[in-house]
Amino acid sequence: MISRFAKSFVAIVVALLLLATITFLHPPSRAYADPWSGALLGEDGMEKSLHTSKPKPSAPILGVGGGVIMPKLGNATAKAALGRATWKLLHTMTLRYPEKPTQDERDALGSYFHLLSRLYPCGECASEFQMLLEKHPPQTSSRRSASLWLCSVHNIVNKRLHKEPFDCAHLDDTYDCGCGDEPLGIKSTTDLGGEDAAVGMMRGGR
Ligand SMILES: Cc1cc2nc3c(=O)[nH]c(=O)nc-3n(C[C@H](O)[C@H](O)[C@H](O)COP(=O)(O)OP(=O)(O)OC[C@H]3O[C@@H](n4cnc5c(N)ncnc54)[C@H](O)[C@@H]3O)c2cc1C
Ligand SMILES: *[C@@H]1O[C@H](CO)[C@@H](O)[C@H](O)[C@H]1NC(C)=O
Repeated sequence: MISRFAKSFVAIVVALLLLATITFLHPPSRAYADPWSGALLGEDGMEKSLHTSKPKPSAPILGVGGGVIMPKLGNATAKAALGRATWKLLHTMTLRYPEKPTQDERDALGSYFHLLSRLYPCGECASEFQMLLEKHPPQTSSRRSASLWLCSVHNIVNKRLHKEPFDCAHLDDTYDCGCGDEPLGIKSTTDLGGEDAAVGMMRGGR
C-alpha cells in the first residue's frame, strides 16, 4: 500500500544517512596535531594564528626554580660572542613586549628570564645572573618597565665586567629593528616613575 513516492523518499533518506556516516568516520585530513605541543597545525604545518595564547588551565611551568645547568665556559672569545648575541635577543624581546601585557604574558616573561638564568650556556655567567635576578626580579608590567629593567640589569653586568654603562635613553635608537613598533620615548634617564622608579634607583648598579 506504500506509494512509489514514499518508497523513493525513504531510499533518499537512507542514502543521505549513509553518506553522513561515511563522512563522519573519515574526516578530510586538513589539519594535524603537533605531537610535541598538541597544537593543531594547518595543512602546510603552519599554525593558524600567531597568537595561540590561550593559557592552558593546568600547565604549570616546570623547572623554573632550580640551579645552573651548564658548566663553565672557558673560551673568552666564545663567551663574549654569546653575550652580545644574547643581549641583542633580550633587548629586542623586551622592546617588542606588549605595552599592556596580560597576566599570562607577564608570567611568560618572568619565567623566561628565570629559565635563562638556569640554562644560559656559560655556567659562571648563569650563576651570577641567578643572584642578579634574586636581587632585581624581572619587571614585567609593561614594555617600558621590562625594557628599562633589562637595561639596568645589563648595566649591572657591565659594571662587574668593568665596562662603560649604557644610557638607557638610547634603547630605542640602538635596538630599532625596523619592526614598526612604537618607540619607548624616554627623554632622559630621570624620566621614570612608578614601578620604573625602582629601575631608576638600580641605575649605576648596586
Ligand atoms: C645574562 C648574561 C650574563 C653574563 N655574564 C657574564 C659574566 O659573568 N662574565 C663574562 O665574562 N661575561 C658575561 N656575559 C657576557 C657579557 O655581558 C658581554 O656580552 C660580553 O663581555 C661582550 O661584551 P661587549 O662589550 O661586546 O658588549 P655587550 O655587553 O655584549 O653588549 C652588546 C651591545 O649592547 C649595547 N649595550 C651595552 N649595555 C647595554 C645596556 N645596559 N642596555 C642596552 N644595551 C646595552 C651596546 O651597544 C653593546 O655594544 C653575560 C651575558 C649575559 C647575556
Ligand atoms: C674560541 O671560540 C672561538 C669563537 O667561538 C673560536 O673561533 C676559537 O677557535 C675558540 N678557541 C679555542 C681555543 O677553542
